[in-house]
Amino acid sequence: MDALYQSNLHSLPLVGRGKVRENYAVGADRLLMVASDRISAFDVVMGEPIPGKGALLTRMALFWFDKLGHVVPNHLTGDAPESVVAPDEVAQVRGRAMLVKRLRPLPIEAVVRGYLAGSGWKEYQDSGTVCGVPLPPGLQLASKLPQPIFTPATKAEMGEHDENISFERAAEIIGAERAAEVRDVALRLYTEAAAYALTKGIVIADTKFEFGLDEHGTLTLMDEVLTPDSSRFWPADSVREGENPPSFDKQYLRDWLEQAQVDGRPWPKRAPAPPLPDAVAAATGERYATAAKLLTGT
Ligand SMILES: Nc1ncnc2c1ncn2[C@@H]1O[C@H](COP(=O)(O)OP(=O)(O)OP(=O)(O)O)[C@@H](O)[C@H]1O
Ligand SMILES: [Mg+2]
Repeated sequence: MDALYQSNLHSLPLVGRGKVRENYAVGADRLLMVASDRISAFDVVMGEPIPGKGALLTRMALFWFDKLGHVVPNHLTGDAPESVVAPDEVAQVRGRAMLVKRLRPLPIEAVVRGYLAGSGWKEYQDSGTVCGVPLPPGLQLASKLPQPIFTPATKAEMGEHDENISFERAAEIIGAERAAEVRDVALRLYTEAAAYALTKGIVIADTKFEFGLDEHGTLTLMDEVLTPDSSRFWPADSVREGENPPSFDKQYLRDWLEQAQVDGRPWPKRAPAPPLPDAVAAATGERYATAAKLLTGT
């Protein structure tokens, strides 16, 4: 399989290049989102691709959009990406692109957490809260929360880190009613997805959704959903309270980066990323593929 580090379509205007995707305008009201094989960690894009990752992410997102379509409208148009590019560009988009409605993105990320991990676990140890939400005492790393919690974040500019915010702050940014709607929809999406994933042996510890508004102001699910890029996936049979579970997501790459040395010093988590050994790229790809196989059966 040939890796695609970056798409370059000449037939459509480039709207933006994210850490993972290129977005191209298709007329005034649609976007062609092409998922490359790039991978980022600590908000830094690695220099090497993970072959097959873009197609795998796209497959998983399409699977979830289909499964969760009854909860909230999503940005899919149903049109084929191949239909809007030049013949010589089909290979760059096949299997890795989505042709979507161009929405007005809400400037917050809708994070839902069902288990204690990552920055949530750090904050809980300091203050007994996660993003300001008080939690009962006695929880450990990887503990299941009494119920899933909505912990919004601001969307950072390229190169910056997202910042956790309180629900009150989210309500100031997008309005109280809209914030409540986003919270309720995100919690329902997470709850349904987590219940399904558990039947496939996967715990979704946490995940991030993005929403936008369509031309009628209707809340619409956009971006990618419930992939290893936007979620923590743990093998259900190896989750033990107090232990860092093995994972089907970026955690393996993050762990490798944490111990990587650059000129005899720990890598400072700023670009440029240290070169990924082939074995690390391959092992990361295998974890993503395992998650996709377990969840979607492909
Ligand atoms: N339907 C949509 N309408 C408008 N924008 C969208 C839509 N779906 C996703 N997006 C935006 O497209 C971009 C996807 O690119 P990618 O996932 O590479 O970005 P990122 O690295 O996560 O974030 P950034 O673009 O801020 O660097 C995101 O900025 C996302 O908010
Ligand atoms: Mg993204």
